[in-house]
Amino acid sequence: MTAPGPRAETPAGPERAQPVIRLTGLTKRFGSGPDARTALDQISFDVTGGEVVALLGLSGSGKSTLLAQLNGLRRPTSGTGTVLGTDLARTGDAGLRELRRRIGFVFQQFHLVGRLTVLENVCTGALGSLRGPRLGLFTYPRSIRERALDGLERVGLAGHAFQRADTLSGGQQQRVAVARSLMQRPELLLADEPVASLDPESSAQIMRLLRDVADQGRLTVLCSLHQVDVALSWADRIIGLRQGRVVMDLTTRDIDRAEVMRLYTEVGADPAPLPATVAPSTGTR
Ligand SMILES: Nc1ncnc2c1ncn2[C@@H]1O[C@H](COP(=O)(O)OP(=O)(O)O)[C@@H](O)[C@H]1O
Ligand SMILES: [Mg+2]
Repeated sequence: MTAPGPRAETPAGPERAQPVIRLTGLTKRFGSGPDARTALDQISFDVTGGEVVALLGLSGSGKSTLLAQLNGLRRPTSGTGTVLGTDLARTGDAGLRELRRRIGFVFQQFHLVGRLTVLENVCTGALGSLRGPRLGLFTYPRSIRERALDGLERVGLAGHAFQRADTLSGGQQQRVAVARSLMQRPELLLADEPVASLDPESSAQIMRLLRDVADQGRLTVLCSLHQVDVALSWADRIIGLRQGRVVMDLTTRDIDRAEVMRLYTEVGADPAPLPATVAPSTGTR
């Protein structure tokens, strides 16, 4: 569903009718005064459970800032945002930490601990549900270790479980990072350019993996990308950002490639003036 349609139409019960993400006029500004920079400008959209969404846009268009908002890492300057029922502006720090436990996050840089084994890296994904820090694989409960091994099986790396993480290729490390993010059994998976540093074959493998994970777990996924063709073949829906604004929100069924490419080619020709509420800043363009 692209348009935020009437919620009553969703037939599958009240909990599915509630969007996983609901943003209304969400704005994020960095700095103040003449140096203020509007990174997100009046963002409004809903994402319903099970949707697989690609977030596209040039470098600097606001993708990472938006994902950090959704993960409760930064608070909006104005507007409202609700993720998994949590109000991003009004919930306290503890509540936002609680929210982050329900969200998996996959980064462009995989952020594995290189000197630890692959299996222990995956186990760290469960830390949010455990009390206290852990040092060493066998300080994790057996059930966690077993689930981590299952996760590695799922990403095709069970045979590498006891290897140091820094001995794996980039693509393999990202698969480990995906397995780690699934340890917390997330209700929402966010990924920030997860394949930007990978070769095409590893990229395809990661995107297929994320799609399988989404389909099997009926997981909602929002993933920023800058590869149009990857997004078109992978996502159900594309949200395009330009200079912090949503300039495209379409299901991939209704879209053609040339239309999406305009996100990248017509930057200089962007006719939309800055709204009056935004301080004109020389660096925005
Ligand atoms: N911590 C920050 N302080 C100041 N400006 C920031 C900060 N983070 C991002 N920005 C600015 O916000 C805009 C959007 O950045 P970003 O979300 O990183 O874009 P993308 O991920 O699409 O490349 C950019 O103009 C960037 O310079
Ligand atoms: Mg980014």
